[in-house]
Amino acid sequence: MLESLNLLGQTSLAGEKATEDFGARVGSVLKAGDWIGLVGQLGAGKTTLVRGVLQSFGLQDVQSPTYTLINQYQTNPKVNHLDLYRLENAEDLESIGYWDLEEDAITVVEWIDKIEEAWNGDGLILKLEYASDSRIISGYGAGDWSKRLHELWQVKE
Ligand SMILES: Nc1ncnc2c1ncn2[C@@H]1O[C@H](COP(=O)(O)OP(=O)(O)OP(=O)(O)O)[C@@H](O)[C@H]1O
Ligand SMILES: [Mg+2]
Repeated sequence: MLESLNLLGQTSLAGEKATEDFGARVGSVLKAGDWIGLVGQLGAGKTTLVRGVLQSFGLQDVQSPTYTLINQYQTNPKVNHLDLYRLENAEDLESIGYWDLEEDAITVVEWIDKIEEAWNGDGLILKLEYASDSRIISGYGAGDWSKRLHELWQVKE
């Protein structure tokens, strides 16, 4: 999945607040119809990042969709927050209504790499990795994502 996308940039996030702030900055460039996949081990910070995204829409109470599978927010545009960790295959996607999500919402999917069919190749992938007591975040995407996220990465002189 990541192999077919361009690496947009990478930066380190020192602490939970840095992950939230990064999410809020991503949130500020999102538009209706955007699709964001999150990749990273258990506890890597995916939900923390989405909490930041939703802060940029004025929401403070954001729970993990680990058990609910889909949480929907009536923001403008609407935001769908999903977690595929507990799903097994494309049929499970069908049964949670994955293909019926509104096209004019923003959709953010944790564990997008769990089911191959879940990713249509068009959108932004953010990967979180452990680095001692912090995290490294990498962005992958085609089209105008490079331009839209340009200011989020550390520029190496
Ligand atoms: N940049 C960071 N540095 C250190 N700790 C962080 C950072 N970002 C988030 N954390 C911590 O990582 C923990 C796990 O976060 P979170 O629940 O967001 O992970 P997750 O990737 O959604 O996990 P899951 O796969 O279970 O859904 C939290 O305790 C959070 O405080
Ligand atoms: Mg999570």
